[in-house]
Amino acid sequence: MTNPDFRIFPSASATTDAVAAHLAARLAAQPAIRLGLATGNTFVPVYAALVEHYRAGGLSFAQACSFNLDEYVGLPPGHVASFRAYMQSHLFDHVDLPEGHGHLPAVEGDIELACRNYEAAIAAAGGIDLQLLGIGRNGHIGFNEPGSAFDSRTRQVDLTPSTQEANKADFPAGETVPPTAVTMGIGTILEAREIVLVAIGATKAEALQTAFRGKQTPACPASALQMHAKVLVFCDEAAASLVRAD
Ligand code: GLP
Repeated sequence: MTNPDFRIFPSASATTDAVAAHLAARLAAQPAIRLGLATGNTFVPVYAALVEHYRAGGLSFAQACSFNLDEYVGLPPGHVASFRAYMQSHLFDHVDLPEGHGHLPAVEGDIELACRNYEAAIAAAGGIDLQLLGIGRNGHIGFNEPGSAFDSRTRQVDLTPSTQEANKADFPAGETVPPTAVTMGIGTILEAREIVLVAIGATKAEALQTAFRGKQTPACPASALQMHAKVLVFCDEAAASLVRAD
């Protein structure tokens, strides 16, 4: 296959439906799949459609497990804007993924130790079969902001002001976005056997072009994906506009 394998759809909903169908097919083919999961607005309709597949019958998460890309540091447990709360409300609460099989980075106590343990847990599970990824407007993947090393591992990172601004809407009025988070590293992400990156809307067009048509540089973290053998990019026409113009 060509890298990346672009799958371009006429609308946002056609894109997210196709991603959900791909995930459902992969889960059906490999019930004990180890999923790498992502958050963000892009994945709200993806998980909703995946839950529909589950409700339609014939799909089970009972043998699966998942590892999320990232989590904010400093939010009280259960905070509405935490990625744990997002995963519970958009996916985990609605499917038969066993309790304890949906992992997110730990963000309390000794964070360095927790990061090493997260890497060890992924390795002990046998590595990630399919990693879902969104893309930040500045090309970030997970919370690997521009400048992140391509061999970086799970660690605590500072969020750029632009990322904090972009995610502000997820927080109750008057609350600020935490300045730091724990994220899988780019090196961690690159070890997944398959990567499915999803980009919706014109605000992602430049990031997609820089990531896949520009040169590989830590200034655009997603450009690291050029060195991965199996990357599928699901996007709508608007996000694909600059990639297509090439
Ligand atoms: C967030 C997440 C990323 C996500 C990106 C885009 O900050 N940490 O994993 O891909 O921003 O989010 P959205 O889908 O809301 O545009």
